[in-house]
Amino acid sequence: MFKPEVYKNRRENLKKSLSTGVYLIMGNNETPMNYPANTFHFRQDSNFLYFYGLDIAGMSAIIDMDNGKEIIFANDVDIDDIIWMGPQPSIKELAQKCLIEETQPFAKLEDYLKNAKKTGQKIHFLPPYKHDNMIYLNQVLGIPFAKMKEESSLEFILAVIALRNVKEQVEIEEIDRACNIGYLMHTTSMKMTKPGLYEREIAGVMEGVSLSYGSVPSFPIILTKNGQTLHNHYHGNLLKEGDLLLQDAGAQTPLFYASDNTRTIPVSGKFTSKQKDVYQIVLNSINGSIKLMKPGVKYFDVHIAACEILAAGLKDLGLMKGDIKEAVKLGAHALFMPHGLGHMMGLDVHDMEDLGQIHVGYDKHTRPSDIFGTAFLRMGRELKQGYVLTNEPGIYFIPELIDIWKKENKFAEFINYDKLQGYRDFGGIRLEDDILITETGSRIMGEKRIPISVEEIESFMRK
Ligand code: GLY
Repeated sequence: MFKPEVYKNRRENLKKSLSTGVYLIMGNNETPMNYPANTFHFRQDSNFLYFYGLDIAGMSAIIDMDNGKEIIFANDVDIDDIIWMGPQPSIKELAQKCLIEETQPFAKLEDYLKNAKKTGQKIHFLPPYKHDNMIYLNQVLGIPFAKMKEESSLEFILAVIALRNVKEQVEIEEIDRACNIGYLMHTTSMKMTKPGLYEREIAGVMEGVSLSYGSVPSFPIILTKNGQTLHNHYHGNLLKEGDLLLQDAGAQTPLFYASDNTRTIPVSGKFTSKQKDVYQIVLNSINGSIKLMKPGVKYFDVHIAACEILAAGLKDLGLMKGDIKEAVKLGAHALFMPHGLGHMMGLDVHDMEDLGQIHVGYDKHTRPSDIFGTAFLRMGRELKQGYVLTNEPGIYFIPELIDIWKKENKFAEFINYDKLQGYRDFGGIRLEDDILITETGSRIMGEKRIPISVEEIESFMRK
C-alpha cells in the first residue's frame, strides 16, 4: 500500500466535490471457478483500491456526507480462517493503513443503508459490474437489475473520474514500474521467438516473467500470428518462418497499476520487405502522433493525425488513394484500423471503464464520433498534465471485412481493392506505448522503450 495519508487525501479531495447523502464504495468478493472454495485469483475493485488500498475480499465502505462519517464494513477472520490462512490482521488494523477510524461488521452495512434511505438520505453508488454486488444492491436498496447503471450516481462517477484521471507522483512511479516489468515480458519474447515454437510457449513464459516480479498480467495476454484479429487470445498456433507475431501484454504491479504494450515481431528474426513496408507506416504513425501529445491538445485530434499518417503510408503503398484527409474524415482508413488510438490507463488497463467510457474519455467539449472505426476511440478529451494513456495504432488486413466492403464497393474512391487482394493473408501489425502527459509535452513510460524500430527489433532478436 501507499502511505496512509495518500488514501486519506484522496477521500478528502473526493469529499470536496460531493454534495449530500451516503456514498457507497463496494469492494469485491471472491469469485468461485468451479466450486465455492476454488476461486479465481482475487482482484479488488479499483475504486475501492484508490480510496482505501485494501486488497481484501468482502469489504465495503461508506462516506456519509450528512453525518460526517466514514466507515469500513468487513468481518474479522475467525479461528477456522486462521487454521487455513494463517494469522490475519484485524479489520481495525487494516483500516488504520488508510486512516479510517470506524469499522463495523459487514452485516451492519445493510442496516446503515436501509436506515439512511428511511430518513430520506440519497444513496450514491457507482455502476456495479459484479453480479454479487448487483444482487446486494437489489436486495438492500431495491434497485432493479435492469437499472443498475441508470440508477448509479453520475455526480459520484464524475467526481471519482476527475481524481483518478490525473495521476499522482506515487501512481506515476508505480506505472513506470509496471512498464519496466512489461519491458522484460516483451523482450523475453523477442529473445525466445523462433520458428517451431507454439504461441503458448512464448505466452506462458511472458506470463511467468510477470509472476516472477510479484506481478500478474494486467489483462489476458494477446500473442498471435493472426494479428488481424484485434484481441486474439488463442495461443495454439505453431510459428513458422515468415510469420509475424503480434504480442499485446502488460503487467499489473503488486500495487495494482497496469502497463500495456504491443510489439509485432518477425518470427524468423527478420522482416520481409513487404512486412517492413507496412511496419514502417505503423511506426511512423506511433512516433508522429506521440510527438503531438501535450496538455491542451484533444486526443481525438491525435487519433485523427495518427490515422492520416497511416492512410498516407497506405497511399504510398498503393492500397489507398485520393484525398487522405477526406478519407480519414469519412472513415475509409477504418478498413485497416478499425479501432481507436488509445485509452486511459492506471489501476485498470482500460482505466475506469466500469464507470463508463463516455465519462472517462469524453466531456462536454469533446463528444464521440459515430463513424465506424473512430467510434471505437475510448479517449477523445483534451489532454492534461498527469494523464496516462496508450498510443496504439495498427494496420490490419481482415479478410472478412475486406470482402464486405469490396462487395459494397465501399469508399471505392479511397481504396484500391485490386491491389488489396495481395495482402489478404498478411495479418496485422500494432505498436503500443504508454504515455504520460507532462507539463509541456509527454514521455514514454518505463525506464527504456521496448525495441521498436525495424533495426532495433532485428538486432535484438539476432542477439
Ligand atoms: N491492450 C489490450 C487492450 O487495450 O484491451
